[in-house]
Amino acid sequence: MLCLQRDSNPEWIVVASANLDRILVDHAHCEKKAATFALAMMNRYPHHERLVADMVDLAIEELEHFRLVLGELQKRNIPLSPMEANPYAQQLHDHVRTSEPERLLDLLIVGAFIEARSCERFSLLAAHAPNDDLKSLYSSLLASEAGHYRAYTDIAREYCGSDVVRARLQEYAMIESNIVASLPNQPTMHG
Ligand SMILES: [Fe+2]
Ligand SMILES: [Fe+2]
Repeated sequence: MLCLQRDSNPEWIVVASANLDRILVDHAHCEKKAATFALAMMNRYPHHERLVADMVDLAIEELEHFRLVLGELQKRNIPLSPMEANPYAQQLHDHVRTSEPERLLDLLIVGAFIEARSCERFSLLAAHAPNDDLKSLYSSLLASEAGHYRAYTDIAREYCGSDVVRARLQEYAMIESNIVASLPNQPTMHG
């Protein structure tokens, strides 16, 4: 799916399906973090007009997703407990280079991979959802996060050029695949 080289470990959806309350809480935090990341990109690169315009749209959509998932939590009387660490995202960020313009490219690619992996996990959650309510939630988010993957890669191509983006996407695909292979299958969106 999208740029992903490896499917999630089959064990993950088993653990996730058995702990849907925890998945919903972590999912809410992921949507909030996605909005925060978009705001951080606007703060870091205010002179990049296209990036700022697209990140505004993306931050608004991610906050709308956050509100949607908060509503699902409230319907089920599940409290929004504190955020857990996200080793998947942290390990992707560990490979971001520190000099510019490589840093800009890597941050956009990290954003793209988080969206792509979220997409794959939403498709698993939709296929295994216990009711139509959750199935339609995950199906609608899947389409939206695929659009976010395209937004990140389109911005990267605008500022860094297609060939450079293609080459770094391939390198990151291998990095991401190795991270996913080592994940412990926790009941979190990227566990
Ligand atoms: Fe989202
Ligand atoms: Fe997204």
